[in-house]
Amino acid sequence: MKSHTPTNLGRVSIILVLACCTLLASLASAELHVREFVIEAKPLKRLCRTHQTITVNGQFPGPTLEVRNGDSLAITVINRARYNISLHWHGIRQLRNPWADGPEYITQCPIQPGQSYTYRIKIEDQEGTLWWHAHSHWLRATIYGALIIYPRLGSPYPFSMPKRDIPIILGEWWDRNPMDVLRLAQFTGAAPNVSDAYTINGQPGDLYRCSKPETLRFPIVPGETVQLRLINAALNQELFFTVANHQLTVVEVDSAYTKPFTTNVVMLGPGQTTNVLITANQRPGRYYMAARAYNSANAPFDNTTTTAILEYVNRPSGRGQITPVFPVLAGFNDTATATAFFNRLRYYKRAPVPLQIDENLFFAVGLGLINCTNPNSPRCQGPNGTRFAASMNNVSFVLPRTNSVMQAYYQGIPGIITADFPPVPPVQFDYTGNVSRGLWQPVKATKAYKLKYKANVQIVLQDTSIVTPENHPMHLHGYQFYVVGSGFGNFDPKRDPASFNLFDPPERNTIGTPPGGWVAIRFVADNPGAWFMHCHIDSHLGWGLAMVFLVENGVGQLQSVQPPPLDLPRC
Ligand code: C2O
Repeated sequence: MKSHTPTNLGRVSIILVLACCTLLASLASAELHVREFVIEAKPLKRLCRTHQTITVNGQFPGPTLEVRNGDSLAITVINRARYNISLHWHGIRQLRNPWADGPEYITQCPIQPGQSYTYRIKIEDQEGTLWWHAHSHWLRATIYGALIIYPRLGSPYPFSMPKRDIPIILGEWWDRNPMDVLRLAQFTGAAPNVSDAYTINGQPGDLYRCSKPETLRFPIVPGETVQLRLINAALNQELFFTVANHQLTVVEVDSAYTKPFTTNVVMLGPGQTTNVLITANQRPGRYYMAARAYNSANAPFDNTTTTAILEYVNRPSGRGQITPVFPVLAGFNDTATATAFFNRLRYYKRAPVPLQIDENLFFAVGLGLINCTNPNSPRCQGPNGTRFAASMNNVSFVLPRTNSVMQAYYQGIPGIITADFPPVPPVQFDYTGNVSRGLWQPVKATKAYKLKYKANVQIVLQDTSIVTPENHPMHLHGYQFYVVGSGFGNFDPKRDPASFNLFDPPERNTIGTPPGGWVAIRFVADNPGAWFMHCHIDSHLGWGLAMVFLVENGVGQLQSVQPPPLDLPRC
């Protein structure tokens, strides 16, 4: 009698067929999203006045991109504005493909007026909320949008995912052309004017002049849970976000899941994203969601409040529109609340944190002042006749002008950048104490730090008290890192590492230094290329709070930077 159990060969072929099917299925489900982003000026009315605002496809905020893990994007940017521009896909790893990352003069030359460039992006092992924005001067004041990555088809969320999802993009609005605000500050050397409003999805809300009719309203069904995808796209300001009477359950930050926890308030630095769940479990009515500044520096800031309205669909009607309930907001300088929020973040599972460190880096970050030979000059209107600056390890970063760092690195062109960025400050001092004036002036230069492929890197980012202690939201391109520790005062290399969380530290792409404190991050340098690291407060970036990592190729094609695309913009 013949046996009906499959032979070994039969088993192998069944397994092969199954493997092929799953491969085909996943290939079939991976999509290519082709889009055109036309950069153009459009009349936009906010705060009673109309401005010719630079937009993408006439939209403000720009289009939301919705993709799945494994998908690809081909976004052709057509520049019909009068400024050079480039776009950055904030938080996308761009593995071996720095050419699609976008920061001008770092990975590409800008797209000039009348020119175009296609960003070819592959999403590899990433899901969650990210965003995209201009990476050219202050154009990101109005050029930004959400980039949402859903899990692969059939791949679950680590929490019960609500049916509805609302992107909430926090922005900052000037009642002037932001490029003129920047130009004036670059001329005078003083701090740029603060913004005139904050916005939620482009709208300032009820508390600003001429804004009430456009205040955004989000209907919600009693008992329903929705996910809010919070994105801080503000140019220069950390923000607190709150919804009146409602708890928020944090489930994700910077496209990395967290252990869920509930809170009344979320703090986001510029560049950061946070997903929260909110349940309509209060008395049917209207409730404000509101965002306003967390200001850790001793400096002027925009102290206004942006709002939108959460509206229960079954709220009592008849007596006209009831006034929404206003939330209790954290104080502007409430560092305790901001710190408590960040200290509660944990990766959702055990994190593969590098344990043996190959590169132990210590970066002092903060502001500075450049002395002027003629302090009465109109170009020296910073404190006491100086010009504002900012630095990392005393280097105030200057963008190259004639080529991008990445092109120079790839083609071996000398004279664009030097690989001598110091691993520790050139002079050690009491970073958070009373720093002597002789240490306030940084050196302007274009310097990078080289990393071997797959090096395990630790960076301690130490805020200084030069000019003012401050929360600096530090963003690293091309990577996600683990935030293993933080504290106030000076980092103590003997004592502090003992308290590091090497088990479930949060994974992020942007982390703020506590004001007058330090934060330690770890990552594996597995993505070759030129990767920008900088403060995501654009005024600080412009003053030089930046550096570049040059990550070397590994062995063979799969560990090396891909060749540049043919349409890479010329300088
Ligand atoms: Cu979102 Cu270099 O920035």
